Amino acid sequence: MKIPRLLLFVILVALSYFIFKAPGIFLKQPIPSSLIVMYMFFAVVTILLWMTSTEEGMQGLIGPIKRMIEDPGKKTLRNIIFVIVPIVAAGITYMQLRPTYEAPVELRSIHPAPPSTIKVFGKTFNLMTLENPYRKLEKEDPQKFAQLVKEGGEVYFKNCFYCHGDKLDGRGHYAHGFNPLPANFTDIGTIAQLQESFLFWRISTGGPGLPKEGAPWISAMPVWENFITEDEVWKVILFLYNYTGYVPRSWAK
Ligand code: HEC
Repeated sequence: MKIPRLLLFVILVALSYFIFKAPGIFLKQPIPSSLIVMYMFFAVVTILLWMTSTEEGMQGLIGPIKRMIEDPGKKTLRNIIFVIVPIVAAGITYMQLRPTYEAPVELRSIHPAPPSTIKVFGKTFNLMTLENPYRKLEKEDPQKFAQLVKEGGEVYFKNCFYCHGDKLDGRGHYAHGFNPLPANFTDIGTIAQLQESFLFWRISTGGPGLPKEGAPWISAMPVWENFITEDEVWKVILFLYNYTGYVPRSWAK
């Protein structure tokens, strides 16, 4: 029995697809779908070239399609096919574009390596050696230190709590509008892990100061260099640690 050419074409295409899928099904080593699309393209083109290399082969392949479209007797079949094909196409498209409600994969590193030096407030700071100039007062002059922490609190409640929250938990009024969320300073994963020089860098230069690697950061953290003084940055850092009870990380002595 001679297999109709159109059916043969469908069988060959299906067979090629199966061959490309087989490693995934039997060996658990699937070929990436983008590669399969490419392989299938070449397979279909090759099969078509071969099947249409003679006039007779050409007729055998497109003849049934032509008859189906032109033959008045095949009206019902034609109508059925013309309804089914778009529905199948729409179905496949829908399956591929189906909306998901899962959070997209985030490769964002929360604490990128800081640069070794930064230029802010018109000066160059070496982050390797930079320390909070007020930190020593914690032991030397506790009263003055408490005053500085209080001033840092004022800086915080004038500038930061809209986003980072009045309990420093990252749940400020505007927080829900941002992704990534404002840092939650009460979480052990933020300032407790960091040196004061790291905070100085992050606060002075904000989202735009984050390194080019790992972009896009899409961080809403403002560039505070433009709005508060160097002194206020150091004081607000004192406040963050004092309020949360965490101790800044320091170089192991
Ligand atoms: C407009 C909202 C907004 C305001 C206002 C804001 N921040 Fe942020 N901040 C963010 C967001 C969002 C992040 C998280 C993304 C990132 O790390 O840049 C962040 C991150 C930080 C980080 C990094 C924490 C970490 O674990 O790396 C520090 C430190 C910080 N903010 C301090 C401050 C201080 C201090 C102020 C006030 C002077 C302030 N922020 C005001 C939005 C804000």
